[in-house]
Amino acid sequence: MPQSQNNKTILVTGSAGFIGFHTTLALLKQGHTVIGLDNLNPYYDPSLKKARNKILKKYPNYHFYQGDLIDLPFIKKVLVKHKIDQICHLAAQAGVRYSLTHPHSYIQSNLVGFTHLLDETKNHKIKDFIYASSSSVYGQNEKLPFAVNDPVDRPASLYAASKKANELIAYTYHHLYGLNCTGLRFFTVYGPYGRPDMALFLFTQAILADQTIKVFNHGKMQRDFTYIDDIVAGILASLDRAYPYEIFNLGNHQPVELEYFIELIEKNLGKKAKKEFLPLQAGDVRATYADITSSQQKLNWQPTTAIETGVAKFIKWYKEYYKIK
Ligand SMILES: NC(=O)c1ccc[n+]([C@@H]2O[C@H](COP(=O)([O-])OP(=O)(O)OC[C@H]3O[C@@H](n4cnc5c(N)ncnc54)[C@H](O)[C@@H]3O)[C@@H](O)[C@H]2O)c1
Repeated sequence: MPQSQNNKTILVTGSAGFIGFHTTLALLKQGHTVIGLDNLNPYYDPSLKKARNKILKKYPNYHFYQGDLIDLPFIKKVLVKHKIDQICHLAAQAGVRYSLTHPHSYIQSNLVGFTHLLDETKNHKIKDFIYASSSSVYGQNEKLPFAVNDPVDRPASLYAASKKANELIAYTYHHLYGLNCTGLRFFTVYGPYGRPDMALFLFTQAILADQTIKVFNHGKMQRDFTYIDDIVAGILASLDRAYPYEIFNLGNHQPVELEYFIELIEKNLGKKAKKEFLPLQAGDVRATYADITSSQQKLNWQPTTAIETGVAKFIKWYKEYYKIK
């Protein structure tokens, strides 16, 4: 376990990414030292990653390294330079749909990169390894809500398979070397500085540009959209407790129909969407819904942001960031 609440040195991978940025900011504000690592890859507009990183660089207790997790000497260099107390591993090749066309990117970042980092964590005798898994691991499960002890052996995409593999690899390192490993299954995270490849961003952008939005499964989809501040609270609680081996669902526990989600965006933009209704995409699932009993009990975690509040906050940010009247 970490020595003190306020002077930990934490390595956050993917610190220029959406969740990594918000997590790092919260840690810096709490007075911790953060070693940030990111390759700033162009999966989506790197200028957004640079803008997030610019905000973080204003903090003297933030030390950033640009590099790739598949570059083992790079990871070794960073770990030798700093005495790290805990690892918060959020870097990954994200996105379900992209994994249909770019499978190797998932193998490289999510399997090779993950194992490089975990193995160096062991070599440097760092005890706590908190990492991002995903609600995608529930794949084709039909039982709702999704509980952490449900079987997750039928991933619907290579992205999901890579996240499930992370959980298994982490278990092995816990078993063999006594590392404290906590995997967090995030459920569709959204909020300011959010990802441009995700629905809220894509829909907002398209509606403002008078373009048609693609509504998959004819709008008959449910997502347990989870606000970024709630996700960060769950990550911080996991770092504070650093259990020997756990998997937690971090989801809002309030699934929302896609049609209602679009209505909220329209209401906040004061503009109607042009919709194209399409069938369910390969790799996608119809519904996600988190059972959070274990996260409530063991992390004392409770999501507090209603979708109406969260969408309004995102759109306020979007308009300010992209200077839209
Ligand atoms: N956003 C969500 O809804 C969601 C849901 C479930 C799980 N997750 C997981 O949470 C984590 C963070 O997601 P996010 O939404 O912030 O994504 P993101 O793409 O915004 O952030 C990931 C960051 O990692 C960096 N990165 C990727 N591969 C790298 C590599 N090989 N070496 C170094 N840096 C690399 C990217 O440049 C990016 O800045 C990921 O592991 C993702 O799979 C996210």
